[in-house]
Amino acid sequence: MTRTALFGAAAILALAVPAISQSQPAADPSLNLLPPGPERQILQNACTGCHTLERVATATHDAHEWDILVDGMVNVGAPLTPQQIPQLKTYLTKIKGEPGPELKIIPGPVKVTIKEWQVPTKGSRPHDPLAMPDGSLWYTAQRSSILGKLDPKTGKITEYKTKTPVSGPHGLAGDKDGNIWYTGNFKSHIGKFDVKTGQFTEYRMPDPKARDPHTPMFDKTGNLWFTVQGGNMIGRLIPATGEIKLIESTSPRSLPYGTVFDTKNVLWIVLFGTNKIASIDQNMKMTEYTLPDPASRPRRLAIDSQDVIWYADFSRGYLGKFDTKTGKFVKEYMSPSGSKSEPYGITSINDVIWYNEGNARPNGLVRFDQKTEKFQSFPILPSGGGVVRNLMPTTDGKGIVMAESAVDKVAIAYIE
Ligand code: HEC
Repeated sequence: MTRTALFGAAAILALAVPAISQSQPAADPSLNLLPPGPERQILQNACTGCHTLERVATATHDAHEWDILVDGMVNVGAPLTPQQIPQLKTYLTKIKGEPGPELKIIPGPVKVTIKEWQVPTKGSRPHDPLAMPDGSLWYTAQRSSILGKLDPKTGKITEYKTKTPVSGPHGLAGDKDGNIWYTGNFKSHIGKFDVKTGQFTEYRMPDPKARDPHTPMFDKTGNLWFTVQGGNMIGRLIPATGEIKLIESTSPRSLPYGTVFDTKNVLWIVLFGTNKIASIDQNMKMTEYTLPDPASRPRRLAIDSQDVIWYADFSRGYLGKFDTKTGKFVKEYMSPSGSKSEPYGITSINDVIWYNEGNARPNGLVRFDQKTEKFQSFPILPSGGGVVRNLMPTTDGKGIVMAESAVDKVAIAYIE
């Protein structure tokens, strides 16, 4: 849809909204958490169609990030008039502009150079990055419903619009033939982009309750497993037949999130809505393990060569260690920038752990050497990172690809 057409549709929707709110006067309860002003009515009218205003009440972003966020919400369908857009951006920056903790920079033995690229479509919200063996960096543009491909050598970015508009592409996985698979987060499907033909194929969830497909990952036999965050499920897609099997998580509202496979082809996931880690074997039998602190909210995880899991404890600001062989929590380490640093994307390169602090200002890339138990950290500059949500190593292990969601950029950290 062109911008003008979008605004046309937005204007019609905006006219329709007051009529609905007259018959249904219930104001969003989170409205009271926001300071009064005409903007509260705009938020009530334009921003409660898909989620409550708790999203707004709990978010903090700087001016640049609110600018991109509001454009992104218009991209997905928020009915704002052209006048309301800048008005809301100014208001949100004023009331919800509080920055996170200052990044604590810890010097150390390794040199890292970060290179960033601006994505072409504003309000894209690059969510997940994928490093392919040919050196290309793919990303999901969640709010513009695009798969992007960067050639880091030339800086050229090619955008591919998904077949279904506003499908909210989220997690990414590459298959052995170089095709790109993703979760169509807003429209409950798994998508495949055939790199040779340029065709998209979409595999619908067999159960309407399977909302919010999240992180996809191929196992060693070539089947695609994925978490279904909102729907509280775990799924498996067999590419040869397109068949999808879903199981329900053994805990209610557990928000199945990040995934890894161990050397025995067992899937390990974190349950972001709880303080639990779980395994799912090839028969899709799920087993839960509880972390000691009830306040832990593990968000993503990495696995080392010894099948030891390292998880990002998002809510408490810790790096945690869990042994899959004993099924036991081992130890945890406070992240350099503290309890509010929000450790998020995480990976293991030659058994050295790398993750980002998504709430630190600027975002930090953190290196943890498990032999010496020492941290080193690097500022994600010049952009500040704008909440890196996922990262992964390049195929040669000499770099880490990142998607910088709130600043519309993708990046590679080159490790020397
Ligand atoms: C058409 C559906 C839709 C409408 C309308 C909508 N949103 Fe959203 N919003 C989403 C979805 C889906 C997410 C979660 C995924 C994401 O962040 O893109 C989200 C997430 C958010 C978040 C949390 C993410 C972050 O980075 O902080 C905020 C804040 C937010 N929306 C604000 C707004 C505002 C302000 C409006 C009104 C201008 C709005 N939304 C209208 C769909 C919508």
